[in-house]
Amino acid sequence: MKHYLNLDAIPNLETAIEEIIDLKNDPYSLEHLGQNKILGMLFFNPSLRTRLSTQKAAHHMGLKTMVMNFSNEAWALEFENGTKMSGLRSEHIKEAAAVVSQYCDIIAIRAFASLSKKEKDEEEQVLNNFVRYASIPIINMESATAHPLQALADAVTIKEHGFTKKSKIVLTWAPHPKALPHAVGNSFVKMVQKIDADFVITQPKGYELNSEITKDTPVIYNQEEALIGADFVYTKNWCSYNDYGKILKTDQEWMMTSEKMKLTNDAKFMHCLPIRRNIVAADDVLDHSNSLVIEQANNRTYAAQWVLKQLLENG
Ligand code: CP
Repeated sequence: MKHYLNLDAIPNLETAIEEIIDLKNDPYSLEHLGQNKILGMLFFNPSLRTRLSTQKAAHHMGLKTMVMNFSNEAWALEFENGTKMSGLRSEHIKEAAAVVSQYCDIIAIRAFASLSKKEKDEEEQVLNNFVRYASIPIINMESATAHPLQALADAVTIKEHGFTKKSKIVLTWAPHPKALPHAVGNSFVKMVQKIDADFVITQPKGYELNSEITKDTPVIYNQEEALIGADFVYTKNWCSYNDYGKILKTDQEWMMTSEKMKLTNDAKFMHCLPIRRNIVAADDVLDHSNSLVIEQANNRTYAAQWVLKQLLENG
């Protein structure tokens, strides 16, 4: 593995899940791999889980970490070539990526979608320019279109909770007061397509994800119908993809409730966090013993650790 930009970097997801569970059982077993090496973590957006779990993963691997909030601590970056830099952007990505490459052995980057220009977001300007101009491996800590560390942790969590190829997994849209990106939904869809489950997406009309990602995954517009017999219910908001960045529906009828969970096969409830209580899911869903949200966050550490292992071994 040269970089970890999306789930396609994983040669065999089932093997990766097994190896992540082994790391979870013995997290310091590869502490020697990262000795005298540094992971640089660049945040263009906020984080709780990604920041702390990736740092913890690095520490398990013997790596030291350097963290920088690029949104307010670094010089504003210019990404266009040939620009006369007379505006607010003080540093070009060419120099920034080359300089950070000298200080670190791996760079991890978080840079969300703007949700204003679809084409720009899909270019993955920040991530791909670091790949282009840095000389070391890059990890995606959530970009405009993908959150592959989250999806890898989710795959492990599902496996730990009795997943079989007969399991029914439902990805359901939920309301949210802010327009949120598609990254988590996209990567979750790609992950479930790889584990060969009985998989259904449910959402209001107008909230279809990118069809190049969902491919032939069935979409059911009636949430209650979709939930019947589910073994895993993954709840997530995203804004409209076709009417890019727009919120089309804000009412609460799509919130996950304990009444709706009764339609399932005693399903496990999943969400990547952070979650707005009693907007996305009701208190009693989140506080129920079937909620896996804290375990998902825990597995972020070991998923990140596995990714670091691949990159360190390759280097
Ligand atoms: N799930 C997730 O990525 O959480 P943070 O945004 O807190 O990192």
